[in-house]
Amino acid sequence: MLRFFPQKNKYIQEEGEFEFSQEGPVPKHIAVIMDGNGRWAQNRRLPRVAGHKEGMETVKKITKHASKLGVKVLTLYAFSTENWKRPTEEVDFLMQLPVDFFDAFVPELVKENVRIHVMGYKEFLPAHTQDAVARAIEQTKDNTGMVLNFALNYGSRAEIVSAVKEVYQEVLETGGDGDMIDEAMISKHLMTGFLPEELRDPELLIRTSGEERISNFLLWQIAYSELFFTDALWPDFNEELLEISIASFQNRDRRFGGLKNKEENK
Ligand code: FPP
Repeated sequence: MLRFFPQKNKYIQEEGEFEFSQEGPVPKHIAVIMDGNGRWAQNRRLPRVAGHKEGMETVKKITKHASKLGVKVLTLYAFSTENWKRPTEEVDFLMQLPVDFFDAFVPELVKENVRIHVMGYKEFLPAHTQDAVARAIEQTKDNTGMVLNFALNYGSRAEIVSAVKEVYQEVLETGGDGDMIDEAMISKHLMTGFLPEELRDPELLIRTSGEERISNFLLWQIAYSELFFTDALWPDFNEELLEISIASFQNRDRRFGGLKNKEENK
């Protein structure tokens, strides 16, 4: 856990301090649970929505920096299928955010060669949100750089149920049986299935605000992801903290169930 130490005015990784290396591997796909907007606002005696607005500014900063560092896919959890339970005023605000974000930021995203994608049950979003999403996807569709993938009205268990239904349909239509179902087939039918196979699963998952849970996000896709938790609230997350998260990733020993030294696996 990356914790803030007020005496030092510094975030310190409890497991040790790591240096970010430009030469070291940068995760190809980073997923983020952007948590802590409400607390950020409450700490300043502001309404919760002020935290979401500031959180949107962090999204801009982190998108640009991730793209600069060579990340190929940045998946951001912007609204979960459970978030409808929040007060109407807050839900309305969260549904307006993508409209404001895309309207203001798409020209810059085009300049940065970033392509927008939105995964989730879009059909349940209000019309103005759906229109803004469709516009942003269209305006950035020819960009060949980083994919900025928003999870909007997304829930991982619902996603898995939808994928299973599609797989079942495919089996019926091709006259096959259960034996034709494998991991690759399921992965293709998940909402990350639009990505090339090698980019579908995040290598690094970051969660801000000190909570250490997954909250129904990418349950299948994070099977081998490195997890990084920080107590920074999302509006306080910045370029330096992104680099610290990546530095931590660079210092992990990724084994995928094998042994430490690749030679030992032979
Ligand atoms: C969780 O913080 C955050 C959300 C539910 C919304 C995340 C949305 C943004 C960061 C803005 C997204 C921007 C775009 C462009 C769509 P919380 O409200 O649960 O915080 P709390 O746990 O402190 O209450």
